[in-house]
Amino acid sequence: MYLPLCLISLLLSAVPAEADNIDALRPRRPLPNPSDGNFFHQPQKRSLTQFQELQFAKRAQAADGGGINYNPDGSAFLWLPDDVYSGKNFFDSFNFFSQADPTDGHVNYVNASSAFAKGLAYVTDDNKVVMRTDSWTKLPLGTFRDSVRVQTKKLYTGGLFIIDMDSAPWGCAVWPGFWTTGLSIPPVIWPAEGEIDVLEGVHDNEHNQIAWHTIPGCVYDNNAVFSGTIPNDSGVNRTNCDASLNDNAGCNVVEWSRASYGELFKQQGGGVIAMKWDENDISIWSFFRAAVPQDITANSPNPSLWGSPSARLMNTKCNIQKTFANHTVIFDITLCGQWAGNSYATTNCPGTCDERLVEPANFINSSWSINSLKTYRKHLLAGNITQINDGSFSADSSLLTTKLIVLLGSVTALLAISI
Ligand SMILES: *[C@@H]1O[C@H](CO)[C@@H](O)[C@H](O)[C@H]1NC(C)=O
Ligand SMILES: *[C@@H]1O[C@H](CO)[C@@H](O)[C@H](O)[C@H]1NC(C)=O
Ligand SMILES: *[C@@H]1O[C@H](CO)[C@@H](O)[C@H](O)[C@H]1NC(C)=O
Ligand SMILES: *[C@@H]1O[C@H](CO)[C@@H](O)[C@H](O)[C@H]1NC(C)=O
Ligand SMILES: *[C@@H]1O[C@H](CO)[C@@H](O)[C@H](O)[C@H]1NC(C)=O
Ligand SMILES: *[C@@H]1O[C@H](CO)[C@@H](O)[C@H](O)[C@H]1NC(C)=O
Repeated sequence: MYLPLCLISLLLSAVPAEADNIDALRPRRPLPNPSDGNFFHQPQKRSLTQFQELQFAKRAQAADGGGINYNPDGSAFLWLPDDVYSGKNFFDSFNFFSQADPTDGHVNYVNASSAFAKGLAYVTDDNKVVMRTDSWTKLPLGTFRDSVRVQTKKLYTGGLFIIDMDSAPWGCAVWPGFWTTGLSIPPVIWPAEGEIDVLEGVHDNEHNQIAWHTIPGCVYDNNAVFSGTIPNDSGVNRTNCDASLNDNAGCNVVEWSRASYGELFKQQGGGVIAMKWDENDISIWSFFRAAVPQDITANSPNPSLWGSPSARLMNTKCNIQKTFANHTVIFDITLCGQWAGNSYATTNCPGTCDERLVEPANFINSSWSINSLKTYRKHLLAGNITQINDGSFSADSSLLTTKLIVLLGSVTALLAISI
């Protein structure tokens, strides 16, 4: 999301404008029938010999969906419920950011009281959390439009983040983001604690673009198993996440599905996006509404059952623990600015980006509708589970039994397993 001001003119002169609009360069694939599992990434039991994922998945299934996950070294862990952001209490846990947009968007980010008073942030009777751009005020040319940016009060270093939403903002001039970045107190100089862009795009894009922006030394390993596509600038893959290079393009992966962003994302009912961040990798999965895995719905998420992610930043070429820490989780909608403004002329959008801002009706789709954001924390299990097979597993420590019972609480399925 961030681009140093001094580099903008450089960007405009040195890089072809189209380079910024990844989606315009991507071949449009035919849209399969929504009932086709490939329409949007569907969980599938594929043979991932790499990282022993299949083996892990089998074990977890044998444990009756108990949600046991394994690190590459064989140590077992669970994703335990941490925070739930949803419904009427959603905004209690967020700060509204009301300063000038650091990405030079032509927005006035309003504070909490203004956002609620103006109807830019609210919760519907059926518990949908809505955050949107003003779509009812006509503005003189050159005026910034009211919009919203919120960020969690709590900071995270790792975790499993699962967002369920009906729609994300889109439209000409619109540039939304669901992302995380370091926000230590006292503040560190960005990107010392890294940035993870989970959902991001501009204008009428159809493919979500995932990105990481980091200190030098973090590279996306394209030997990882993932389903997205790495964009390139004149043949040079965007695999170096170092924010000081390449006008801060970061390392990027564009999702395969046309329904991963914008209008088609909404049309098929939205869906669930999951971001897993631990010492092994940072991975992102997208599930269209009809294909949300049962373990997610049951609040017992088990990423080892989800098949290959859309994107996976491995620790093989990036020291994840050194590069990412203390992240706030952010939703924003900016307009024009560094990405949407600089790429505007390369789209089919009419006029200029600032002209687009004048008419409120241009922003009727510039709105988040969120069912929930749930976070889970990684909890290592003491003891060495050596085998989980045929409904039974052995452990080298009787302590494990106690821990499992304490940890899992209501997850009774596991308790039935003989240890
Ligand atoms: C778990 O136990 C097995 C068999 O004793 C051993 O080979 C493996 O290295 C152990 N794993 C860990 C993480 O301690
Ligand atoms: C929120 O913003 C409005 C409009 O700029 C301002 O009048 C008000 O004082 C602000 N409220 C707080 C609590 O800062
Ligand atoms: C930032 O993260 C590091 C590593 O997790 C931690 O040691 C430190 O206390 C965190 N700082 C803040 C301000 O949260
Ligand atoms: C660069 O991207 C284009 C468009 O997606 C693609 O056709 C081409 O194969 C890519 N080149 C490399 C070297 O990956
Ligand atoms: C660039 O990416 C493409 C596919 O995404 C891959 O085939 C190619 O080897 C990569 N090039 C380099 C130099 O890594
Ligand atoms: C808003 O979305 C509707 C339905 O998808 C579409 O018909 C309309 O053109 C969109 N309008 C704008 C301004 O994006």
